[in-house]
Amino acid sequence: MKLIKTEDYQELSKKGAELLMKEIKELEQPTIGLATGSTPEGLYKELIKYHQEENYSFKNVKSFNLDEYIGLAEEDENSYHYYMNDKLFNHIDIPLKQAYVPDGMAKDLDLECSSYEERIEKSGGIDIQLLGLGVNGHIGFNEPGTSFDSRTQVITLDKSTRNANAHFFSSGGEVPAQAISMGIQTIMDTKKIILLVSGKNKAHALKELLNREITEEFPATILHKHNDVTVIADEDALSELE
Ligand code: F6R
Repeated sequence: MKLIKTEDYQELSKKGAELLMKEIKELEQPTIGLATGSTPEGLYKELIKYHQEENYSFKNVKSFNLDEYIGLAEEDENSYHYYMNDKLFNHIDIPLKQAYVPDGMAKDLDLECSSYEERIEKSGGIDIQLLGLGVNGHIGFNEPGTSFDSRTQVITLDKSTRNANAHFFSSGGEVPAQAISMGIQTIMDTKKIILLVSGKNKAHALKELLNREITEEFPATILHKHNDVTVIADEDALSELE
């Protein structure tokens, strides 16, 4: 696991975008894995700049998001699909039919999960995956205790995750109890991974990730077994290490 240290969130976002764009530019038809939450927002702003200021076209890019809440439609402003449209897809030229987010409204959730896996496979796998780190060590919505063998599945969210994400639900909605998430094996199958870790509230989780043995109790520790992971962390996130 490679560790890139940055001074602050802005530098982290720029570095993350640079690495992602380097990979995208090298491939004819890149397939990228995307995350939501607070951490990648700055990186998405940087990607928009590549499109708007440098005219870079995302027409050949395909994307797969890590997760989506069950019971929230794309139009619901608390859904991750809405987040992606709002923070990235509406501002670049990626064709929306190539930008996949799990369907949290699917009637048959198991079928939605297996079809999502199939779609990733048909695209030739994910070339580069963006991840954030949960305070409890989750990646995607794979909460502590999730099997390392897991594939895209329905997950019951931990209380700590629902609390951590409550601030996004400004319009009074409650954080749903369940989500669809790419599994840990799905994430491990991606060819390259960028893990972004920012802020004092992640300092303990980052320390755990870097120092703990590999355990399903702290899902992100599995990343030690992946052969191409770059962790980008800012000073605040590194504060318990130094
Ligand atoms: C989001 C996701 C989660 C977040 C993690 C950190 O798609 O899969 O694993 O990356 O919960 O969230 P933030 O960035 O809000 O601290």
